[in-house]
Amino acid sequence: MKISIIGAAGGIGQATALLMSLNFNNVELSLFDIDDSVHGVGLDLSHIPSSVRVNTYSGYKNINDAISESDIIVITAGITRKPGMDRRELISANAKILYPIIEAIALNCPKAFICLVTNPINSLVPLAARILSKFSIFDAKKLFGVTTLDVLRAKSILEDKLNINVNYEDFYIMGGHSKSTILPVVNDKILKKMDSSSYAYDDFVSDVQNCGDAVVKEKRGRGSATLAMATAALKFVKSLCLAIEGQEDIIECAYVATTNKTISPFLAAPLHLTKTGWDSILIEKKIEPKVESKLLDILAILSDDISLGEKVYDLMSLSTDISNHKSLAVKC
Ligand code: NAI
Ligand code: 2OP
Repeated sequence: MKISIIGAAGGIGQATALLMSLNFNNVELSLFDIDDSVHGVGLDLSHIPSSVRVNTYSGYKNINDAISESDIIVITAGITRKPGMDRRELISANAKILYPIIEAIALNCPKAFICLVTNPINSLVPLAARILSKFSIFDAKKLFGVTTLDVLRAKSILEDKLNINVNYEDFYIMGGHSKSTILPVVNDKILKKMDSSSYAYDDFVSDVQNCGDAVVKEKRGRGSATLAMATAALKFVKSLCLAIEGQEDIIECAYVATTNKTISPFLAAPLHLTKTGWDSILIEKKIEPKVESKLLDILAILSDDISLGEKVYDLMSLSTDISNHKSLAVKC
């Protein structure tokens, strides 16, 4: 299995590479960053005994070698929020970073699973889908916006506030990945526990939605969540690897292009993962009224976020700025 991390010299990229080198066996880890310091990250990792082989690449001209023959590509390249900023405010800078990366993937390893961490997920996944469609290789089943961090946060908060052990089967995350679109949904067992405590479902939703802002604020201008995000990336990619190897019962939440345009063309939801990508969305048929009313508000915001990504794609595909990056998109 070859796993590439794009943006590997950054906070999330480095921590993800560390966790992967400690937790995987017989994997080839390809670390790419625009910044040359990625070679130091690789050297640092090489001093940890591990069966994971690490190769490093830097500079645009080497991205093709970095990603070639990858099974899974994790994209963490991009800028982070400063305190007070919304994830949407990252769109312009991060779309410019993402566009040539997705083009390079389209031309060099079109069959790879793409796990996009870079924000704003709600808009960048639709943008990436458009770029892949331009090359006629868009496979909705293989493009994921990574929302696993919201899953980890929801579990930690539930266990802390309700003082119980919570299984991943007890809840899931729907909607998107932004303060107003993350929607954790819990099962009856958890709802009952909430009803008999002073911790209400509305408090829980708001606590999960606010985690990202709280970390940005407490990091005081030095970026956003990295350690929990890397743990989340490891969890998601580990599940993907198991599914690719043929394990049948793998479920993870992620933000994907749905086939059900009546709910939303893009949605975060629990997915059944298979060898060839996700094959079904596992949302309860009967949605609680209090969840449903929140979901309707979220879908309206999500619709704007999706349109933003598609509009940025339209602008960028016309822009000469992007044609300057076309050197990236050279077929190996
Ligand atoms: P960072 O600033 O520490 O690292 C970003 C890395 O990307 C840097 O090493 C930089 O050199 C690299 N980079 C920039 N342009 C590049 C390019 N064109 N090609 C390759 N590498 C390039 O940032 P951090 O903390 O690692 O965050 C990265 C992204 O992840 C941000 O957009 C952040 O908002 C997002 N994020 C997403 C989360 C999620 O739940 N999906 C959670 C936390 C952060
Ligand atoms: C987070 O949720 C910033 O998206 C990032 O922490």
